[in-house]
Amino acid sequence: MASETLIQEAEALRKAIRHHSYLYYVLDRPEITDFEFDQMYRRLVEIETAHPELVTPDSPTQRVGGRASDDFRKVRFKKPMLSLTNVFNAGELREFDRRVKGSLGTDAVEYVTELKIDGLSMNLVYEEGRLVQGLTRGDGRVGEDVTANVKTIKTIPLYIENAPPYMEIRGEVYMPRKSFARLNEERDEAGLMPFANCRNAAAGSLRQLDPHVTAARSLDFFAYAIGEAEGLRVHTQEELLRQLAAFHFRVNPNYRKWDSIEGVIEGVAEWEEKRRSLPYDTDGMVVKVNDFRQQEALGATVKDPKWATAYKYPPEEAVTRVERIVVTMGRTGVLTPSADLSPVRLAGTTVKRATLHNLDFIREKDIREGDWVRIYKAGEIIPEVAAVLKEKRTGEEKEFEMPGTCPVCGGKVARVEGEAAYRCTNPQCGGVVREKLIHFASRDAMDIEGLGPSVVDSLLACGLVKDPADFYTMDAEELQQLERMGEKRAANLVEAAKASRGRGLAKLLFALGIRFLGAKGAELLAARYHTVEAIMEASTENLMETEGIGTVIAESVHAYFADEGHRALIARLQAAGVVTDEVKEETEGAAFAGERAVLTGKLASMGRREAGDIIRRLGGEVQSSVTKTTTLVIAGTDAGSKLDKARAQGVTILTEDEFLRRAGLSGEETGAVGAKKEEGLPSSNA
Ligand code: IVH
Repeated sequence: MASETLIQEAEALRKAIRHHSYLYYVLDRPEITDFEFDQMYRRLVEIETAHPELVTPDSPTQRVGGRASDDFRKVRFKKPMLSLTNVFNAGELREFDRRVKGSLGTDAVEYVTELKIDGLSMNLVYEEGRLVQGLTRGDGRVGEDVTANVKTIKTIPLYIENAPPYMEIRGEVYMPRKSFARLNEERDEAGLMPFANCRNAAAGSLRQLDPHVTAARSLDFFAYAIGEAEGLRVHTQEELLRQLAAFHFRVNPNYRKWDSIEGVIEGVAEWEEKRRSLPYDTDGMVVKVNDFRQQEALGATVKDPKWATAYKYPPEEAVTRVERIVVTMGRTGVLTPSADLSPVRLAGTTVKRATLHNLDFIREKDIREGDWVRIYKAGEIIPEVAAVLKEKRTGEEKEFEMPGTCPVCGGKVARVEGEAAYRCTNPQCGGVVREKLIHFASRDAMDIEGLGPSVVDSLLACGLVKDPADFYTMDAEELQQLERMGEKRAANLVEAAKASRGRGLAKLLFALGIRFLGAKGAELLAARYHTVEAIMEASTENLMETEGIGTVIAESVHAYFADEGHRALIARLQAAGVVTDEVKEETEGAAFAGERAVLTGKLASMGRREAGDIIRRLGGEVQSSVTKTTTLVIAGTDAGSKLDKARAQGVTILTEDEFLRRAGLSGEETGAVGAKKEEGLPSSNA
């Protein structure tokens, strides 16, 4: 039996973790370091492991667990989840306004506009403040139970203080654009079909039988409505949004109240362009009558409320021609076809290429060389083919065939059973080696400044590198044999490689290019195992116990480290001084331990991102703006209001020189860190 003190400690830990998760995930304003947070979390896990009877379903440790209940059991809503009518222009908005006013018999109507988030709607049931059920919209009357999966979304509270006895919170589950782009990249490499857009990706991620998979998908949630609720005293949509924020939900901040439809029309126009720069997809704006009594008086049809409507923005599409279909190689040897397009303007940029993912994708859409196609940007970034304009075919179009031999090495190309991808089967294929090297040095991996695709090509051509460990034994004199490689640049490259050795386990794991292991999975493994040795020794089953790591990744990681060649590579990296432990854990006593730093202005020797990496590596945290928790400001030239605010608060301010000295970076080394990225080349984001 657990003692009373232990029971109380567990309860206090749960409360503190809940509070700090809210500050971190919802408000993006942490007040403690990741290290301190991890310590609390670990202590709670320790107590709960020793005393399983103390585990509560709403404990922060229970976000990932069990299976999706009964394979998405069907549940009838107490209040239906309605859809919305659509309007497409100002005239139709004015018509909506006339209907509302006519039906209410008054002109005194306020509206609230909200962004229409392009995800899928969710009904969250809270009993006595505890999240007990998450239901998808289904057909609006009967939804699907995805409780185990929604619990993995970190911004959805598992417990709400001072909540009414029963309430249903409704809102949108969505996938941020960046996560979507990363997910599709990983799917291409893994030979899986890509998702067409952020919404489909969010839906696919929620309908997973294994919550571990959902947990690794970076879903998020905005709350905007209530379903059935007892004892909730709110009278307007505006009040409701404030109340939802007070319950610690994320509420999209871009809502606004208007006292006329002309205001609404203005608001809608304002967001048509602005919405493109948001980190998530929106497909319109929702216009709601603010007053709940008026909402009730207006009522609903079987399908839609009469007090709200959705203003839909036209989807951005363009029509162009597929000039050619070309095949490029990815880092795991996957051959990815893409379409060379006749250049066309689309949503602010000129598009010349669209990925076609794999042969199944091409066959499904029946895309041929010479075809006219409709294209769009998935997640506002990635050009995709929506459909072929078959009526424009002349008969001259050419069907695409996957090459039988590798375009890089001439080796045999084969389709792996059960996968959509074709791969070069030659393990020594120069293309695979090249992509692996480029990936290793790339920004999200070991981030070796100046080591992009063209330098990798030269290094390979001269036989100076064969695998990533060779990056760390390059010698400045040897390097000068390479084309366009002067003394200074060669020295910078050697220094940049040296500087990358301390990136730590998570970056290294990702950099190795292990199949199926993305940046996020690598972070999860690093946080759990702390050393590469521990991961190398772990069984597949053991790896799978990591939150966010499913069978496929676990098997792949295990197989990777079972390979003698890969073990030898790790040993050589270690011999070259590459840190193979998690760096965060070792920062006590480090130069920026416990600091919460803000970077402002321009630094002469490096970019802000790099400076941020250095601070984090040396135990500090980086904040985006000066808050009451900020302990340090690093001010470059042209520092603006952040510096003023720091001065006003009496926060310690470091000049760039002082910062470099404290970081222990001598003049020489900073030159290397500040080396320019290869010019004129696309960043190697394998
Ligand atoms: S209110 C009865 N507000 O749009 C009114 N819906 O086309 C219920 N959506 O099913 C919806 N953002 O999934 C509302 N701020 C927002 C929204 C929103 C996105 C979605 C929701 C709904 C669909 C209707």
